[in-house]
Amino acid sequence: MPRDKTPLIQKIAKQASITFKDCLSEANGEHKPLPDQHKQLISLVTALRAADLKLAPRKSSRPGPEGAQSPPVTYMHICETPVFSMGVFLLRSGTSIPLHDHPGMNGMIKVLYGKISSLCRSMLHCVSEYSASSAPCLLTPHHDNLHQIEALGGPAAFLDILAPPYDPENNRDCHYYRILQPSCSTSGSSEETWLLEIPQPEDFWCGGQTYHGPPVSV
Ligand SMILES: [Fe+2]
Repeated sequence: MPRDKTPLIQKIAKQASITFKDCLSEANGEHKPLPDQHKQLISLVTALRAADLKLAPRKSSRPGPEGAQSPPVTYMHICETPVFSMGVFLLRSGTSIPLHDHPGMNGMIKVLYGKISSLCRSMLHCVSEYSASSAPCLLTPHHDNLHQIEALGGPAAFLDILAPPYDPENNRDCHYYRILQPSCSTSGSSEETWLLEIPQPEDFWCGGQTYHGPPVSV
């Protein structure tokens, strides 16, 4: 039997097109992916490694010659269709993507190299660590959508799939937040977390980087 030489990232793009194809339909107000297809996508994404995208981990954690002016995070765009967008975020050592959400969108985050911590979930109580051998971290359109991602112990990179893609005209935009001090009940226990929507933090910005991995067509 001939070996399937289709690059894994191409298979992922095709599977994402199928998995999320109904997320934009008005009948699917929850923007839910197709369950069986979602499992197949998770399985493909779990197998993805940096080498599949011809991506070499950054050797140095120090800033480049442009020093402090180089962006803390860069984004490598791979593809975008009306159904989903896909790209890679590359984080310099010690940097993070601040607390934000993108409501109405499904998200899938898969580490390609390095290690990240993801402060996630609606109650902000769940901090998990992910590495290249971890399964992807999943975000859903209306729950568990708030997240903050930090590079741990060196540079890190992760694949990011969003479905449907950003569309500010249809309320699919990114919002940043700051956690206010938890309020305490009369018993003294911390019960609630308050979030303040803020502009994009000044010390965070995202540069662009060219994708040199296998071509993707969808
Ligand atoms: Fe995000």
